Amino acid sequence: MTGTDVIVVGGGVIGLAIAWRAAQRGLSAAVVDPDPGSGASRTAAGMLAPATELYYGERELYGLNRASADLYEGFAAELEAATGLPVGYRAEGTLLTAWDAADLASLHDLHIFHSTLGLSSSMVTGRELRALEPATAPGLPGALLAPDDHQIDNRLLHIALLAAVRSAGVDVVAARASLRVSGGRAVGVLLDDGQELSAGSVVIAGGAWSRQIAGIPEELRPAVRPVKGQTLRVRAPGGPVLTRTVRAKVRGNAVYVVPRAGGELVIGASSEETGFGVEPRAGAIHDLLRDALAVVPELGEAHWESVSTSLRPGTPDNGPLIGATDMEGLLMATGHYRNGILLTPITADAIAALLTGAAVPETALAFAPGRFAAAAFGAGR
Ligand code: GLY
Repeated sequence: MTGTDVIVVGGGVIGLAIAWRAAQRGLSAAVVDPDPGSGASRTAAGMLAPATELYYGERELYGLNRASADLYEGFAAELEAATGLPVGYRAEGTLLTAWDAADLASLHDLHIFHSTLGLSSSMVTGRELRALEPATAPGLPGALLAPDDHQIDNRLLHIALLAAVRSAGVDVVAARASLRVSGGRAVGVLLDDGQELSAGSVVIAGGAWSRQIAGIPEELRPAVRPVKGQTLRVRAPGGPVLTRTVRAKVRGNAVYVVPRAGGELVIGASSEETGFGVEPRAGAIHDLLRDALAVVPELGEAHWESVSTSLRPGTPDNGPLIGATDMEGLLMATGHYRNGILLTPITADAIAALLTGAAVPETALAFAPGRFAAAAFGAGR
């Protein structure tokens, strides 16, 4: 390969969706990743949760999350039609339940915050919760119902995106890449086997590893840090157990159980600021199972399938870095922290728009990569 219009460094769902959208707009594209889809795209639970994943101070991020959630049904349908592969989009809504009175008070606060944003969540009593999801534990004091928080099977999503980019003519190169710069602009990547690929633009979509990609000038290295997350997969022998995602606050700890159409249940997730290690930690598995079983006791009968650990790309304000950098030809699509699966469609649209000179979705404009000074973040980390 001598040159393409764009090279995307990172073959998770975001990198692939960018390449797909770029190819649809007539650009030649390549994706470079040593093991596409082996990171957060695989470990994620696939919740599309602008309401129940919302934290105080994230008003602007909520706007971006909401806009991407609104794109999802169409994005999933388009991908399924293009590939003939299912992606497991489900729109049953999400329940966020409390364990005790203190947890319930925090849900009331969240509900008030939702109201100020015009969100359609509502509080339900413990009795209503059990009517909606009979497998939840008796005696839970109440829950918040978020009908517009949906889910997608992130692993199926990745498989479908891989098929979509390949049939759109995108080269998926299994290699590690560093950035090549010439004359002050990004000109391509250098692969670990010594091969040089050239491109008009390079998009950094390497998730938690984006800051470690060699060749990016110090002042442009993205303000991204690894935040380890662990998810568990189990299968209930007698059937689905839940009809919708159940999240919970259990004595202040967050846990979620996401039911897949095929009977699998995904339990998550730890949140650990422990560097780049991805070894599963026994204490995190214990805590997740303890809290999940407290809320859905029947999970104790489920068959164990797997544990998965990866790194979320955290940023100083929890928002992603989407857009052009101060270096010509270098763009960022990283730092999606807890919302990578959710933000895939809007990130792909925004980057494809930038690559083709089209209008960038309004809500993405506040997430330009240059908003953190490298020095303030701590160079060399
Ligand atoms: N979005 C769920 C998580 O990051 O655990």
